[in-house]
Amino acid sequence: MKLSRKERVTGRLKLPGDKSISHRAALIGALAAGPSIITNFSTALDCSSTLSCLQQLGVRIKRTDNTMEITGAEKFTQPVSALDCGNSGSTMRILAGVLARQTFSSELTGDISLNSRPMGRIIEPLELMGAQIRSHAGKPPLFIEGAKEIRPIVYKLPVASAQVKSAVLFAGLGAHGRTQVKESSLSRDHTERLFNGFGVSVTTDADLTVTLDGPAHLENGNITIPGDISSAAYFVAAAMLLPGSELTIEDVGLNPTRSEFLSVLSSWGADISTTDLRYERNEPVGTITVRGGIAPQLKDSNARRLDKARIPSLIDELPLLAVVGSQIPGGIEIRDASELRHKESDRLRATAVNLRTMGTEVEEHPDGLSISGPTTLRGASLDSFGDHRIAMSFSVAALSADGATEIQGAECVDISFPEFYKLLHSVVIP
Ligand code: S3P
Repeated sequence: MKLSRKERVTGRLKLPGDKSISHRAALIGALAAGPSIITNFSTALDCSSTLSCLQQLGVRIKRTDNTMEITGAEKFTQPVSALDCGNSGSTMRILAGVLARQTFSSELTGDISLNSRPMGRIIEPLELMGAQIRSHAGKPPLFIEGAKEIRPIVYKLPVASAQVKSAVLFAGLGAHGRTQVKESSLSRDHTERLFNGFGVSVTTDADLTVTLDGPAHLENGNITIPGDISSAAYFVAAAMLLPGSELTIEDVGLNPTRSEFLSVLSSWGADISTTDLRYERNEPVGTITVRGGIAPQLKDSNARRLDKARIPSLIDELPLLAVVGSQIPGGIEIRDASELRHKESDRLRATAVNLRTMGTEVEEHPDGLSISGPTTLRGASLDSFGDHRIAMSFSVAALSADGATEIQGAECVDISFPEFYKLLHSVVIP
């Protein structure tokens, strides 16, 4: 993909449904008795992976454009071949929680990237609950022998992870007794909100212990998936970086465990407002408006360091924040983010390599990056590292860089946001 400097972005956008919420809505629909209609279902390839795995498990799905009718299966059927999760960590990890309580064995596999990601984090709690899971030293493929009777557990997550928390909660639906998951920092809470929205009570207390009493049955019902806030992030950042921009994004998810990047960008001088707040099955939805430009002085110098408890709610936006950080007076520092090394690519390395190629000074730490700023970005030939979030973050960088940029392998944006370049071209003013 070839990109160059643009004057500004302007217009109104609506985005395809949130990827994380779509995975969960499909799984909930698949487990509930009766039909559910999901509108604005994500167009991400990752969510198609979840749907095709569910179909292999005997779940009936009818998809037309962005609407999907899913009819829950009382009992899943044993798949005849391995379930292919593609590039999707959420599909593999959360589905493993569902398969842990089926009375058959199954195999989960993925592409080269997914098959090199750590799965010990779900194997441990799901085995404590009674499933048996074979792997290659904690990496996929996973061979899951469902538990005859799944046991409730009290489990402290070694790393804050919504995928692991969700795997335990989906397994806990079938357990007789109280399942509790404790996090050290709050990761995205879509599973908790949607379980409550579909008839299963889940509570989270002040010390971040999530409690579910099983066995519990999800209800069928309809949902309109909020626009994907992680997709919105690229447009918000582009509008901020190009003075004179004015962009409105409607019907977008505003879950506080996902929207932290808006506060970060505001603390760096962005002009962002959110309006029209409403709820869809407990998920906040609203409108984001951004006006371009960065206030010249940072009011709070602490704002430049992103670390500790804030990392889980910024996790997917960190490469993009690194790009924006290169334009901030004094630069920024990201720490306590070693999890980024275990995403679709090693995102700390990929971000450092690309920022340096564009002329930014970057120091790489085991758990983060120190990025100097403000830097005049130079257009360059960049690698997407096969990672959708790297491709989109550096597409935004290209819009404010001197000279042309080419992003190799940019088609990987299809993993989360196939419409990205079409929508970007619809709002940029050359
Ligand atoms: C996701 C959780 C996050 C995030 C991923 C989607 C989810 O991963 O990075 O893109 O849908 O639960 P972790 O739970 O591993 O942090």
